[in-house]
Amino acid sequence: MKPGHRKPPAAQVKAEDAVRLNRYLSMCGLASRRKADEMITSGLVTVNGTIMTTLGTTVRPGRDRVFVNGKEVAHVDAPIYLVLNKPKDTITTSHDERGRPTVMELIHARKRVYPVGRLDRDTTGVLLFTNDGTFANAMMHPRTGIPKAYLVTCDKPVEREHLAQLRTGIRLDKKMTAPAEVFAVPGGRGKEVGITIREGWNRQVRRMFESLGYDVRKLDRVAYGPVTKEGLPRGSTRALTHQEIRKLKQLAGIEKD
Ligand code: URA
Repeated sequence: MKPGHRKPPAAQVKAEDAVRLNRYLSMCGLASRRKADEMITSGLVTVNGTIMTTLGTTVRPGRDRVFVNGKEVAHVDAPIYLVLNKPKDTITTSHDERGRPTVMELIHARKRVYPVGRLDRDTTGVLLFTNDGTFANAMMHPRTGIPKAYLVTCDKPVEREHLAQLRTGIRLDKKMTAPAEVFAVPGGRGKEVGITIREGWNRQVRRMFESLGYDVRKLDRVAYGPVTKEGLPRGSTRALTHQEIRKLKQLAGIEKD
């Protein structure tokens, strides 16, 4: 499959696809996989009426009937996690009163998904979408501090002392930004700067540079935690991989498995 061509989200499980019983129980929100293994080995789980104590047993979601402790486990559709390589001139909203193009017009998912945070109209790059509210809230929670990497193109070369200030913190709205990783991009004639921040204040990167007297000509988010837009054309989406989802959840402290 060519980069940019949408494929089904990695976590999507079709009814006929068999999954390991412990994964199924964790997908249904019942327990971590480790806890599910304990339930299985202790004989609490039946599949189509038979007690299953063998780890590695597989089930077909939507077809096999799974009971834990005598209670049927409902099959829930696996959540969707996507990344869009956002183009310029698109608004991060579901509907624009003025009829301008929105990011939602670029998303074609089997269920309604929502952006995780927002990017300004002129900002390009990595924007996540999901229908998993717990995940979205965790990503955006101020304490989580997922590293977000940007490539900034300024109107003029950024002075060395300003790079140092960006690194240590900039006063915005009477608050200091947290320490950031900042570097002048080799070959960028001083105008191109890489910056990684862990907060997500409104228009934060633009305001950090503007407060030092620079005009941001281009702003591209190149990474959101482990997720990059490498190989993903502008305007295209792809499903996050299992590893990316797991890593993001670990960073947010919601994956204990
Ligand atoms: N910082 C900004 O200034 N704009 C964005 O879109 C994202 C981060």
